[in-house]
Amino acid sequence: MRRVFDAYLARAAGILEHNWAGAYTRPAPQLYPHQWNWDSGFIAMGLAHIAPERAMRELESLFAAQWHNGMLPQIVFNPDSLGHYFPEPDFWQTERSPHAPAGVLTSGITMPPIQALAALKIYRHARRRSAAVEFLRRVYPRLLAAHACLYRERDPRGEGLVYIRHPWESGLDNSPVWDIPLRRIRVANLPPYRRRDLESGVDPAMRPGDDDYDRYVYLVDLFRRLDYDEAAIGRECPFLIQDPLFNAILLRADEALLEIAGLLGEPDLEIRDWRDRTRSAIRSKLWSKEQGRFAAYDLASGELLRSDSAAGFMPLFGGAATAEQATRIYERLNSYSFCALNQGNCFTIPNYDTRTDDFDRRNYWRGPVWININWMLAQGLRRYGYTLKADSLQKDLLQLPIRFGFHEYFDSFDGTGYGSDDFSWTAALFIDLVKDFYGRERPAPGRVIKGWLGGEVVLNAGHHDEQPADERLASELLQIMRTIREGYYNCDRGLVDYDALYDSPEYRHYRELTGRLQNFDPDRLAGRRRKLAFWINLYNSIVIDGIIELRLRHSVREFPGFFRRIKYRIGHELFSPDDMEHGILRANVRRIRRRFGPRDRRSRHLVIPPDPRIHFALVCGSRSCAPIEFYDPEHIHDQLETAAGSFINSSEVLILPEEGRILMSEIFRWYRVDFGGRDGVLDFIHDYHRDAAAREFIAAERATLEIEYLYYDWNLNR
Ligand code: GLC
Repeated sequence: MRRVFDAYLARAAGILEHNWAGAYTRPAPQLYPHQWNWDSGFIAMGLAHIAPERAMRELESLFAAQWHNGMLPQIVFNPDSLGHYFPEPDFWQTERSPHAPAGVLTSGITMPPIQALAALKIYRHARRRSAAVEFLRRVYPRLLAAHACLYRERDPRGEGLVYIRHPWESGLDNSPVWDIPLRRIRVANLPPYRRRDLESGVDPAMRPGDDDYDRYVYLVDLFRRLDYDEAAIGRECPFLIQDPLFNAILLRADEALLEIAGLLGEPDLEIRDWRDRTRSAIRSKLWSKEQGRFAAYDLASGELLRSDSAAGFMPLFGGAATAEQATRIYERLNSYSFCALNQGNCFTIPNYDTRTDDFDRRNYWRGPVWININWMLAQGLRRYGYTLKADSLQKDLLQLPIRFGFHEYFDSFDGTGYGSDDFSWTAALFIDLVKDFYGRERPAPGRVIKGWLGGEVVLNAGHHDEQPADERLASELLQIMRTIREGYYNCDRGLVDYDALYDSPEYRHYRELTGRLQNFDPDRLAGRRRKLAFWINLYNSIVIDGIIELRLRHSVREFPGFFRRIKYRIGHELFSPDDMEHGILRANVRRIRRRFGPRDRRSRHLVIPPDPRIHFALVCGSRSCAPIEFYDPEHIHDQLETAAGSFINSSEVLILPEEGRILMSEIFRWYRVDFGGRDGVLDFIHDYHRDAAAREFIAAERATLEIEYLYYDWNLNR
């Protein structure tokens, strides 16, 4: 475990400890004293890493309150903490339903069914396998019953989409998406009630309004009048919505449930059927073609609701979006409306379109950034290969609590924490992310290729012909690299489709050209810009060539000495990626020794003085490296500026002014000399950072601020 995050992990663990109520974790010490359904799921994900037994208890406490029809209630009330929340059991009167369990107090609605995922995570991280399998055996029937209940009761027509019948069931209580269906409700004969949520001192401007509350209460009153009979509710309730967030979570949970069934050797046909139906129904019925994203379907009006909220992106998490839908969602998600990559003055991802009139940066689900949404969307983006964006969501997921405290939600522009402090799922999902993603030790190579016995591999040796190659070769190479880039690299994602590239005519052509490098004389490259572009491009393509030729699957580390041992013969000389980088592009800087010895004729190619921005342009086949770009001599300076700017403003640099610290990529440690030492690194980051507050912090604190280095991901950018 990297020590960088230790103090914060301890703080997060302390919050969960403090909010632990004996059998479950309170979402927040004052505002939410009872057990909440999806909160428990998220909390269990974090506990799975640090207190697996407790994680199991957390879920089992919720399951103990499961209704006889399988419904997992939204709230399980703690009898010792009554009197501080509204509505409480006296208002819900769930005893009117024959399904409500005796001896436990619950609300009469449900929430997004995230639990199967949490159960699977607990199993995966368990130290004692046998206890974990027993746990899965205990909870599997509960999970199955919960999903079956949703499909049976909330999807009477068997569409594959379940409905919610109260905004609280969505988890996003006062999302503006509910404004239209809620306003349609004519509130009459409302029973008297007193809101309690404002009594713990939160600012009313950050909470749902009284109008909303009237409608929330109206619906609860309707349910109890109908004795929680779902068929009757389905007929009479004015608020029945097929929500993309709820259904996407259900779909993701179906997948998890399938995996659990597999682990336990249980039959899974029914679950497969649920999964397939939900996936295709989200794709077809909830897709708003005009808006290019998913939207909630209002069963009362028979229309899709406007969908400016992050819920419309959630089918990425469930894997429901087609590739084409994902591309359109991505355009929207990565726009100024939702804080684009490198935008610089915002945190990803606000829950509501920041450019609409009803966006409210401080009000609950009407704008701020929520950690659970980030956590799910980052996984969804990764699932579809949008690695850079996923990284940026995760960066904010880490920096918001570190910088502003473990709040319930955060301002999308300045990060101010709102709502309750010491919020449990913020702490739990922080722990999960740090442990799962940033906290890994560098992965040992999964497999190591043997048989090359440490020798060199000349990748272009087999394609020799006698024609001397002239200057045009460099531009032909550039041309084919561009074509390859267009067809096989996903630059948004920073990924290469190595498998498809391997079989492609473009790659064959590229190989022929590299064969001709043997007749090429690099002395012909006139001028610094030509040299820079040529060697950077060649570095980037030899690495990809090497990965393909050596059939590397997971990491360049599968082939020890990769950067030293793969080579191109150019003219009469051999060049490895290390020769190109440390020799030519870094001007033969002294490391332990210089790359080229005193009599090495390759020294005549050095680019002097070296340009530290090359480090953001060299793609070393790993995920932490720069996205792939091809450099042309004419525009190389602008291109290097862009590369440096995006790196500095990406998840590779985390500035924590409140802590007096900067966390940065290990690239800045390895190549510190190239930037002019510690001060040079700080100046560099200062100059390229787009956030004025970050720049000010560096300028003011440069002498004393602490630097720590972030984990470098060696996995292939495939
Ligand atoms: C609010 C949130 C909901 C959450 C609950 C407890 O009602 O809208 O998503 O589960 O608080 O934290």
